[in-house]
Amino acid sequence: MKKIACFLFIVFITKVGHAQFNIAIEDSANHKAIAVLNQMNLKQKVFELHGKGIIKLGLSLVFTNKIAPVSFGGNKKLDIPKGLFVDGPRGVGIYKGVTAFPVTMARAATWDIDLERRVGMAMSEEIRAIGANYSGSVCVNLLRHPANGRAQECYGEDAYLIGEMGLALVQGLQSNQVQACVKHFALNSMENNRFGGNITIDERTLHEVYLPHFKKIIDAGVASVMSAYNKVNGEYCGENSYLLKEVLRNKWGFKGYVSSDWQYGVFHTTKGIQAQMNIEMPSHQVYNLKTIKKLIQSNQLSNATIDSMVFPILTTKFKFQLATAQNPSAFPKSLIGCGEHINLAREVAEKSIVLLKNENHLLPLNKNQIQQIALVGSLATIEQTGDKGSSKVNSSYIISVKEALKYYCLPTTKILTACNQEKDKLQAICKSADVVIVMAGYTYLDEGEYLMMGKIRDSLNPNKQNFATKSGIVGLGGDRVYIHLHQEDIETIQLANQLNKKVIVCLNGGAAITVEEWEKQTPVILDAFYSGMEGGNAIVNLLFGEINPSGKLPFTVPVNASDLPMFNSYSKEVRYDYYHGYALFDKTQKPVRYPFGFGLSYTTFDIDSLQIQAANLNINDTLKFSVKLKNTGDTKGAEVVQCYVGFSHSSIDRPIKILKAFAKKELFPNEETILSFSIPVKDLAWYNPLIHDWEIEKIPYELFVGNQSSDNHFQKAIFVVN
Ligand code: BGC
Repeated sequence: MKKIACFLFIVFITKVGHAQFNIAIEDSANHKAIAVLNQMNLKQKVFELHGKGIIKLGLSLVFTNKIAPVSFGGNKKLDIPKGLFVDGPRGVGIYKGVTAFPVTMARAATWDIDLERRVGMAMSEEIRAIGANYSGSVCVNLLRHPANGRAQECYGEDAYLIGEMGLALVQGLQSNQVQACVKHFALNSMENNRFGGNITIDERTLHEVYLPHFKKIIDAGVASVMSAYNKVNGEYCGENSYLLKEVLRNKWGFKGYVSSDWQYGVFHTTKGIQAQMNIEMPSHQVYNLKTIKKLIQSNQLSNATIDSMVFPILTTKFKFQLATAQNPSAFPKSLIGCGEHINLAREVAEKSIVLLKNENHLLPLNKNQIQQIALVGSLATIEQTGDKGSSKVNSSYIISVKEALKYYCLPTTKILTACNQEKDKLQAICKSADVVIVMAGYTYLDEGEYLMMGKIRDSLNPNKQNFATKSGIVGLGGDRVYIHLHQEDIETIQLANQLNKKVIVCLNGGAAITVEEWEKQTPVILDAFYSGMEGGNAIVNLLFGEINPSGKLPFTVPVNASDLPMFNSYSKEVRYDYYHGYALFDKTQKPVRYPFGFGLSYTTFDIDSLQIQAANLNINDTLKFSVKLKNTGDTKGAEVVQCYVGFSHSSIDRPIKILKAFAKKELFPNEETILSFSIPVKDLAWYNPLIHDWEIEKIPYELFVGNQSSDNHFQKAIFVVN
């Protein structure tokens, strides 16, 4: 009932009354903010500018083993709500019993915008149920290199895919009046050097490659932005006037508030305030009354500047407070980790797994023909939901592949396990089994949020094990050391392939894992990322054909790691160049093992009959076209149709092609459908640094439509912008 009410509310605000509804709320919120601001003294104003969390957070962890939402601001007398922050992005951190969804990268692999919106709605219900109203779930940093420790929290390498998916999550969260916070602004695409690293970048690359997805989400009305830890062109992001003031506020017209990344996110009071970084989180190291009072007394800051810092916080809080009043749904505790959300977590996991290779149609397996399964590899029996940094969530259970197999297979089927070190046992079970499943990849010890400074960690133990990780409290994560599998897993796969013809390798990891050492001999390979609390069931359902794989890679898997952009975890100075991901591989023509957008199915599809409505356009037009998609196999399945635009007629250096539209559609055998797309011509603009603005080239453009980024069977057409 509640779901239906929410759905109707979304339909109402998106289809019918969106504009009027928002304007009315915005007007009232602005009026209220002006009135309240006029009544506030400096102390009350400064109270809005920082979190008061760190002690509260520690105490609640010690006494209740739960992390309470971390609050900032709030004043009962003035009717200012507290901001109550909880983390994400794979669920609601760190409250007990919440739903653990697959990580963001897995969700990106679904290429399913509606599904991501539903995830946002489910998260928002749990956030409201625990009494919070501000969510740090929307992480849209671009995957520049697969070694990035927090790759799993992001949506992959393509700005268009990131923007569409991130926006859907924001819409879902904000549909229940949770203030969404999009993070980390900007260029936080490496982990170990996040506190000290300076990213240098030219203006064109910044705007064309690293910021479009942020802008899309800002344009759609996200409540808040979290600044990044790193520096960009010499200034910390939390104090970066170019990023926060000139781009975010002046160019893009952002009306919400910016909060800092937590601890070490802002260092100088005046610099932060001048950049309009509104809230220091989680406490008040530099945004405190004493310092701010002194700065005002010495004329280094004005009262008007403080007002301009508080105003966007108040308007945003009031906007969401007023909208809540219009939509007074109840959010009982029973929503936390409820059956409906857990089913959604499984659906997402099932739709995210990418089938990379399926020689001789070895999959799907038939449970009636299997008496013995060898389940091996370093991840064979462990629970895999991702890193143990700020994105960790505490679900009530996690299904491993082993448990799921036991539950799914016939009671007589034997599931045999051996770890990589037990060589004799490993040999014996790989030989005798009907099929070998190797679970290989990474864990929170290999990649994730970097919770300790490099030197401390490295001096403790080169294998990344120390008191904290051994106790399982945190994973030190950090950037990956390499992007191939650990040697012990490579050896297990090679051994399994020597002894058995039916070897399935299931990968777990936040981003690309190279497969060169073992790919040729291995008949079946799939990537399950970190697939959440229901991941085991999802993998087993896919292996046995209960569901048909439909995930597509949100990144490129290269043949050689050395063909990727330079990545040095500890370098203090890093240059981000224009090309990365498939755009780089298109240019350099270096080999890729699996292209961006690639993923197999148990059925086959035809994409044809590309038709452009009008091939001559002017700069204010929208390109409209359609293709026919047909399921030509004998199983129901979903395909992702991907539309790329090419720039070979450009007079400047531009990518060979970039993604500009996509759609996912499920079809029955023999069913066909016409899919329609539109691409506004203004989306084809390039950023001209000489004029500091976007420019549209009046040239012929190519349109490529297919089911992966590197396809000999693309449907092609030309259109011209005059
Ligand atoms: C992370 C953020 C997170 C915050 C609060 C920081 O260390 O970078 O992504 O939201 O902690 O947990």
